Amino acid sequence: MHILSLALGGCLRGEPVRYGITEDTGGHIGYILGEMRALSLRGDVRCAEIVTRRFDAPELGTVHARREEWLAPKLVLRRIDSGNPDYLAKEALGADREAFTAALIEELRSRERLPDLIHAHFADAADVAARIQRVFGIPFVYTAHSLAMDKLKASGFRTQALRQRIEEEDRAIARAAAVVGSSRDECERQLASYPSASVDRIHRLTPGTAPADPQPAKIAAARALIAPFLRDPQRPMVLAVARAVHKKNLVGLVEAFAGEPGLRSQCNLVIVAGQRQSLNEGEAEQREVMNALADAIDRHDLYGCVAYPKTHSRPEVEGLYALAAQSRGVFANPAQVEPYGLTLVEAATFGLPVVATKIGGAHDIVLELGHGTLIDPEDTAGIGRAIRELIADRNAWNAKSANGLRNVRSMTWEDYAARFVELARSILAPARVTANCIARRALVVSDLDNTLTGCPEGARRFSDFFRRHPDHGFIVATGRSIGEARRLVRDWGLPEPLSWITSVGTEIYHRAENRLVPDEGFVRAIGDQWHPRAIAAALEDIAGLTAQAGYEQRSFKRSYFAEDAAAVTEIEARLERRSLEARVIYSHGNLLDIVPREAGKGAALAHVARHHDVPLDRVFAAGDSGNDADMLSLCQNAILVGNHAPEVAALAGLANVYVSRRSHAAGALEGIIAHRARHRADDRAEARDRSEAA
Ligand code: GLC
Ligand code: MG
Repeated sequence: MHILSLALGGCLRGEPVRYGITEDTGGHIGYILGEMRALSLRGDVRCAEIVTRRFDAPELGTVHARREEWLAPKLVLRRIDSGNPDYLAKEALGADREAFTAALIEELRSRERLPDLIHAHFADAADVAARIQRVFGIPFVYTAHSLAMDKLKASGFRTQALRQRIEEEDRAIARAAAVVGSSRDECERQLASYPSASVDRIHRLTPGTAPADPQPAKIAAARALIAPFLRDPQRPMVLAVARAVHKKNLVGLVEAFAGEPGLRSQCNLVIVAGQRQSLNEGEAEQREVMNALADAIDRHDLYGCVAYPKTHSRPEVEGLYALAAQSRGVFANPAQVEPYGLTLVEAATFGLPVVATKIGGAHDIVLELGHGTLIDPEDTAGIGRAIRELIADRNAWNAKSANGLRNVRSMTWEDYAARFVELARSILAPARVTANCIARRALVVSDLDNTLTGCPEGARRFSDFFRRHPDHGFIVATGRSIGEARRLVRDWGLPEPLSWITSVGTEIYHRAENRLVPDEGFVRAIGDQWHPRAIAAALEDIAGLTAQAGYEQRSFKRSYFAEDAAAVTEIEARLERRSLEARVIYSHGNLLDIVPREAGKGAALAHVARHHDVPLDRVFAAGDSGNDADMLSLCQNAILVGNHAPEVAALAGLANVYVSRRSHAAGALEGIIAHRARHRADDRAEARDRSEAA
């Protein structure tokens, strides 16, 4: 397989990359280099090729004028000459696109063998890729990196340029064979809000991170970089690394630092914000931000405890992460919105805890890695407080530092590359779904988390069952969103479901050819008396109840964390008092969902059985926790896996419920086999009765 990664802007080159040298030289470059290097190391990848624009601007590095830069044996960076030798940003880059595209098409025409797939980074590259697709038929995958829809919300005003960018992003989403996002927020909230988005083409691939490499030379270089600024360099360091743009809220961070007494007297603040010769150079936004930073430092008399070096190299930045961790400091990212937040993952590799914005992708990184505190970027005092508390609490700091180090280990570029290749294969040779025409004699409806996941060997045997029994259709019924459910099914090698019941039985999707079609009939059946805003308002001040992340709030599902089960009665009483019809579902001792009265996994199971024309006595259902309870009570062939949660233990007494000795998928399989044996025994008994009666 030959994969071509395409990116037009910024100073794209092999290491050493000078991040921040221009406004467009940001995190996507590390992403492309990491992705493509890992792809090039795979046996099934013949060539990993990065394509960008050639320019001749020695002050940005002579390498950008080179047409070819080999980075590793199967990894090459090619620069295409559009005819304009200048470095271009934004509008100018847009004006150059025609010429660039024509030059690239011509270059591709001269080749003996074309690439199999293009990975377009940003919407402008997707536009170029779409034209290449029209000429050569090469499909493309689109990675947005930073979507404008959220920028629109953050800035509050709608400029012409912003509107055009959003339209261009929507076109990219419409034309791409697949859209790749990094975080759940990006996949399920940001991308999903574009008109052309569809769940079956959005895929979450976690970018990799290189393990930390804190060589003494890097640490020494970092010390030297900040020494001129700081009176007492040994203090705990609050470190921020971000481009000098408004939405990164760096001025807010300085205000937070200045306003929190424990910080300015006992800590240092180190801000790495791009490269500059003077405060008054570069783009207008960069000048504004740098001047506002300098002004805030001056106004609050923060001399001696704030460093904001003018230039930095990659090794120096790594040295700073290491120094910040050694000093028992924190990494701060208070951005108004952060689409992903690679720096937060990087901080984890150094064992450096973080204080990060709860808006955007940073949210799920911090939840997944467990290495920090989330803050509201609007709440400047809250940012300062959170930083001080984390630095002051030794136990919390140690736990978060250890969590980051441990959990980040699973985020590797090798892993990313493996998933990317799998995605590429599914695009290049889509699996033909012929199984749809088989008449289904039975359906197996199963929860995912802890019912089918937990033991790979069991999951394998469970999947084998469906290969041997093609007349048994597999249906997923999960609390997760459709996007995450698909990821889990793929990761665990489970069979491709006929239908998906997701978000706690509030959404249903059916497989049709290679697409997923939402079940509109089910929406009509549950959507009638559903008033999510009124529900949220009614529950606002319940103690111990906090909302789950924004992307967990779905059209027909409101989700919370609840400290104890007593919340359920309280919530039910409040909803009743306001005549709000809804069901409250409690799982795993801390997750609480509110869904329409007619929704839930049980109702969805009945709907899906009708859809596939399978009688209810031929439906099996397996589960392990609270949100499975309704479906397990309703189903005549219910299975409670051995590892079930205490909140559903009472179901074990029901006649229709088989309690497995085994756990996880092996337990689900044990239950299916037991129910089938019972059916056969019943059938035999019935046949005997009939022959005796005759
Ligand atoms: C899944 C959902 C979550 C829900 C939980 C329990 O984990 O993502 O929102 O609360 O299931 O139903
Ligand atoms: Mg479960």
